[in-house]
Amino acid sequence: MSMEGLDVTACERCPELCESRSRIVNGVGPDDADLLFVGEAPGANEDEQGEPFVGRSGTVLDDALRDVGLARRDVRITNCVRCRPPENRDPTTEELENCREYLDAEIQRLDPELVVTLGKVPSEHLLGRSVAVTTEAGQVFDARVGDASYRLLVCVHPAATLYDRSQESTFTETIAQAAELAGVGDSESGQSRLGDY
Ligand code: URA
Repeated sequence: MSMEGLDVTACERCPELCESRSRIVNGVGPDDADLLFVGEAPGANEDEQGEPFVGRSGTVLDDALRDVGLARRDVRITNCVRCRPPENRDPTTEELENCREYLDAEIQRLDPELVVTLGKVPSEHLLGRSVAVTTEAGQVFDARVGDASYRLLVCVHPAATLYDRSQESTFTETIAQAAELAGVGDSESGQSRLGDY
């Protein structure tokens, strides 16, 4: 493997993912962001464009961020696994572990005010236990990464709002809560919205 800053530029740890990916999809956003969103793994759009959350889920996330006065460039967005699994299957435990070093390095370097896990896979991966996402959404826990502890907010995956409308308010409320807990967006001064005009 090789890395440039926070970007993994070459990695052969997961034989199946090396076959299924077109490219490695690294995290995007400032490397000192207060708010870090962690998803599961790249899908087809992300694999094609080389950026996390650029498909329909990304639009849902961008819209919810905009509602609280944040733009995508104000936050950092990454995934537990950086290569697209075949047929969008969930990453295996082994693949999650293979990629863990990169995620931990990203969290430690950012040292964010808050980590927001989008869906079951990242929530369970970072909390190290099973998580009932729909009931635990909006709850804050401590997640240990190396020697440090980070505040982690559980959130439903943005895609959940697309097939279950009742998840929409849970999602948008959790994003608003995230901005407030991290002290960014409208909850701070509203300034970041000015940059959009
Ligand atoms: N879903 C994820 O979990 N991550 C992405 O980057 C896109 C969709």
